Amino acid sequence: MSTIAVGGLNRTAALYQSVIGKKVIMAVTGFILSGFVLGHMIGNLQVFAGPEKLNAYGAFLQSLGGALWAARIVLLASVGLHITMAVQLTMLKLEARPQPYVKKTALVSTYAARTMIWSGPIVGAFLVYHLLHFTTGQAHPDFKPGDVYANVITGFRNPAVSLFYMVANILLAFHLYHGVWSMFQSLGVAHPRYTPLLKRVAQTFGIVVGLGNVAMPMAVLTGILSL
Ligand code: HEM
Repeated sequence: MSTIAVGGLNRTAALYQSVIGKKVIMAVTGFILSGFVLGHMIGNLQVFAGPEKLNAYGAFLQSLGGALWAARIVLLASVGLHITMAVQLTMLKLEARPQPYVKKTALVSTYAARTMIWSGPIVGAFLVYHLLHFTTGQAHPDFKPGDVYANVITGFRNPAVSLFYMVANILLAFHLYHGVWSMFQSLGVAHPRYTPLLKRVAQTFGIVVGLGNVAMPMAVLTGILSL
């Protein structure tokens, strides 16, 4: 291997090991995942347009074949890197300060920021359950392959399931609020003059995704959506 290639590898390894490198990986993978979450919500909201629309959308996604698998691989890699960086950054933070501050400086940190450490794992656990529920069907007692609309309605008819979806998606909204704001900072977009605007963008993003996702189980529980 040439000296230049080794030098490049060393620099990449140094970047990976540095805190800022980890934060950038966190931000880039978070950006990819946020884009998916928004697109997924917009696609799913077609449930309000009726079974034909939602099922046609599901069939369209399946028809993408190789492209769908490519997207899945990118998403899976993003989730893996996002979690790995989160764990490593948390450990670095603990190593730097094994004793917590006696007086917490809550003034500058929001509720969303302080809850990242558990909103992340809960959203992760939700995702595993969600894939077994709506994609593979093992966690869905009335799963009908290919009938996305029926699966969503019969799935959300169970109040415990709907409650779990709503709680997880409210936590996701907080996670997105703080995550998008941190992303701006890690990517160097933040500037004191734009702070209020960027915070508003992050907040709006979390609220829009949260409301859109909570609306679906809520609509089934209240009978607005039915088979
Ligand atoms: C109420 C909110 C949600 C609803 C109604 C919903 C609905 C669905 C449905 C019906 C599928 C299966 C689609 C198909 O087989 O054609 C699916 C797949 C999926 N959902 Fe959700 N979802 C919601 C929220 C979320 C959230 C918040 C995330 C991420 C944190 C997420 C991540 C995924 C992923 C990764 C897949 C698998 C996509 C694939 O590889 O085919 N979903 N969702």
